[in-house]
Amino acid sequence: MDLNINEIIKKRRATPPKFLSKKELPEEVIHQLLENANWAPTHKNTEPWRFKVYRGKSKNKLASEVFNLLQKKIAEGKAINPQKAEKLKTALENVPVLIVIVFQRDIAQRIPEWEEIAAVSMAVQNMWLTATTLGLGAFWATPHFFPLLNEIFEIGPTQKLLGFFYVGEIALDYPSTGRGEVETKTEWYQ
Ligand SMILES: Cc1cc2nc3c(=O)[nH]c(=O)nc-3n(C[C@H](O)[C@H](O)[C@H](O)COP(=O)(O)O)c2cc1C
Repeated sequence: MDLNINEIIKKRRATPPKFLSKKELPEEVIHQLLENANWAPTHKNTEPWRFKVYRGKSKNKLASEVFNLLQKKIAEGKAINPQKAEKLKTALENVPVLIVIVFQRDIAQRIPEWEEIAAVSMAVQNMWLTATTLGLGAFWATPHFFPLLNEIFEIGPTQKLLGFFYVGEIALDYPSTGRGEVETKTEWYQ
């Protein structure tokens, strides 16, 4: 796809997993997304983004593990909507690629945490825009029960799970929510 930067930015959509095709993506495509993520800006060069890529069998195994853990937590009385647990399992089974987004805090904590989370978000945006240029759909999912999944992803004390990034071919276009006018969010000073 040959789009300019303005077109790419506006074409990027949060395409829900059920609107993505199940078709596998070539490994080079996933490498390209990760390579571009790795070029996000980063204060003090902490490069705080970490990724875990699941496809095929590993992804389906993960779908069951996540679902079983959530069932256990529900049985223990945690406030998790069972339908959301089911929806997450279906999403994991259906999307061709799952990239787990992890934040790795600078051990020396030289900069505020928010700056590093901002850097991870910029890495995600790089992947998302790259997916758009390749004609692919993507989605960043952050269910409220995410911290309960830490044990599955072996999230260490200096890390945080920031969500699931789904990528795949677009089976059905998802409409844009649009945006309010930027002028209502901007103050100009002359
Ligand atoms: C940090 C972050 C987390 C998000 N988490 C969710 C989520 O858990 N569920 C969801 O439906 N959308 C999630 N979204 C996507 C937004 O819903 C989506 O960006 C918004 O609806 C605007 O649509 P667009 O991105 O296609 O313009 C998330 C977006 C961001 C930036």
